[in-house]
Amino acid sequence: MEPNGASEAVVPPPQKPETELTTENNTISSNPTLSKNAQKKLAKQQRWEAKKIEKKAAAKEQKKKELERKRKEWDESLANMSEEERTKLIESRISLRKERMEKTLEEKQCRKERLVKAKEHGQNVVVDLEFSHLMISSEIRSLVQQIMYCYAANGRCESPAHLWLTGCEGEMDDQLKKIPGFDKWIIEKEDKSYIEVLQDRKDDMVYLTADSETVLEELDLKKIYIIGGLVDRNRNKGITLEKAQKQGIQTAKLPIGNFLTMSSSQVLTVNQVLEIILKFLETRDWKTSFFAVIPQRKRTQADSEGNADNTVEEEKECEQNDDLMACKNQCVEEEEIEQKDDLMASKKQCVEEIPSNC
Ligand SMILES: C[S@@+](CC[C@H](N)C(=O)[O-])C[C@H]1O[C@@H](n2cnc3c(N)ncnc32)[C@H](O)[C@@H]1O
Repeated sequence: MEPNGASEAVVPPPQKPETELTTENNTISSNPTLSKNAQKKLAKQQRWEAKKIEKKAAAKEQKKKELERKRKEWDESLANMSEEERTKLIESRISLRKERMEKTLEEKQCRKERLVKAKEHGQNVVVDLEFSHLMISSEIRSLVQQIMYCYAANGRCESPAHLWLTGCEGEMDDQLKKIPGFDKWIIEKEDKSYIEVLQDRKDDMVYLTADSETVLEELDLKKIYIIGGLVDRNRNKGITLEKAQKQGIQTAKLPIGNFLTMSSSQVLTVNQVLEIILKFLETRDWKTSFFAVIPQRKRTQADSEGNADNTVEEEKECEQNDDLMACKNQCVEEEEIEQKDDLMASKKQCVEEIPSNC
């Protein structure tokens, strides 16, 4: 195999990607060992990463400005008020904030109860994290983001799945631990492989892979569905199929082709696959589930021009940047709330915080 999966059709041996991706942003020098195609792909990835960093910095700057503007506005409106009006306004904001916090706490409690219940009765879904040696750091980070989406989507469900993260080791584990509040997630997290952890349930395991010959018709509560924890622009095509076959585990692909035409490949991201499963658990209807999760532009022929097979993750990531911020904020917010014994934080603190929330 060529370094870093240059050849798409070949299943690579389990080895660390070569070090032509040396910097944080995966900067590559022209490496003679890379095929033209692989160089193009990496250059594209590099451009996309640079753009992502730029966008992030611009968004941060914008947020800072917005906060300053609101703070100024708030100070000005307070300055133009009588003492009585000022007290009234501050108190109304405090009570609004208290209400919001109470609502968040209530929602959090409900979510917790649903997730605890899912441990007993929910559909088992494993995310197999044993592929980190095939990913560069930015891909691992991207996978961690997808896991955050998975957890958030599962928490929002009325009947969530029982989620497992198996093979959590090394950099993958380090990155996961960086998620605010991760230690409190209601999820099964194992450093061992699913094959060891759930060894008596091997016959119930179904490895989901777009390369399977078997089409998934239904979801069976007794089964354990496994999703490959990989962000690889599908350069390791067939790797999960091969792994499952070696382990003697059943495989299946989502019945995408029965319901819609994709503009490129049918290989979806980890969170898309989980979200489809969750939607199907709720609706028992594949078509609804696919249409709810797969972005419109990936569904029509017209969109295919200029779209490489491997753009699914990239595009989804760009599209979900805002979602991710919301998801991160939610984690931080919950963490903060948990640490507060008293909902009524001091008046001073509330007043200081109001401008950012008004
Ligand atoms: C980005 S894909 C990884 C692609 C990887 N090259 C492979 O061979 O699996 C992430 C995971 O989502 C699941 N997946 C993606 N598309 C799927 C599909 N159409 N049907 C079933 N599972 C799918 C698989 O478990 C897959 O490993």
